[in-house]
Amino acid sequence: MTLFRLDASILPPTSASRALGDLVESEWLAEHPDSSVVRRDLAAEPIPATAWAAAVTAGFTPDADRTDEQREAVALATRLADELIDADALLLTVPLYNYGVSQHVKTWFDLVYTDPRTGPQGAALQGKPAVLVTVLGGNYAEGTPKAGWDHSTDWLRRVFSDVWGLGLRVVQRPFTLVGINPEMDAFTDAAADLKAEAEELARHSGRSIAESAVRA
Ligand SMILES: Cc1cc2nc3c(=O)[nH]c(=O)nc-3n(C[C@H](O)[C@H](O)[C@H](O)COP(=O)(O)O)c2cc1C
Repeated sequence: MTLFRLDASILPPTSASRALGDLVESEWLAEHPDSSVVRRDLAAEPIPATAWAAAVTAGFTPDADRTDEQREAVALATRLADELIDADALLLTVPLYNYGVSQHVKTWFDLVYTDPRTGPQGAALQGKPAVLVTVLGGNYAEGTPKAGWDHSTDWLRRVFSDVWGLGLRVVQRPFTLVGINPEMDAFTDAAADLKAEAEELARHSGRSIAESAVRA
């Protein structure tokens, strides 16, 4: 068994998304102690921003005419797609940055999407068990002053669930900046409840993908 884990927090030592991911991973390993975990850290090793255009244009260029940059981009896309295809389950931890999908996650997705197996016509990831962990410093739920300002989570759901067809569980923890930003102290109790809920859901989701992978 293999779990593929992608992390995207740019602040690993204090990362709430990684902490939730650790809970998912622990449950996975409890069920599959001999499993390997293939890790990709987009903060420590960002995907070059130029790779996507090089891989796309390589598709319009005869093999013999491709530049070294195009060849390297296609090879990287193949490697990234292989990581997903070869895994029995996926764990993706992705914080909200600047109200949208962070550029390093978007760069990774875009490049993987150039591979025919994981692109518009590909179905290689269909039904694969997956957990998306996402964390938000604030809270953009219905009824809050900035409801709708989280432009990351819905896009991530769209591409992972609807485009790739993953069997996706989503764990979201809002209000991670409570306790860090004093202006948010009024939300201390609500944030503690949301943290506990997210932790429980993370454990449950870890067990769930572990069981799904056995049945697959
Ligand atoms: C550069 C930067 C931009 C951020 N932008 C937002 C934002 O737009 N909305 C929000 O709710 N939180 C924002 N945050 C807060 C992070 O989402 C929050 O700290 C989260 O816990 C980070 O993930 P991590 O704990 O896994 O590192 C931002 C944090 C940083 C460092």
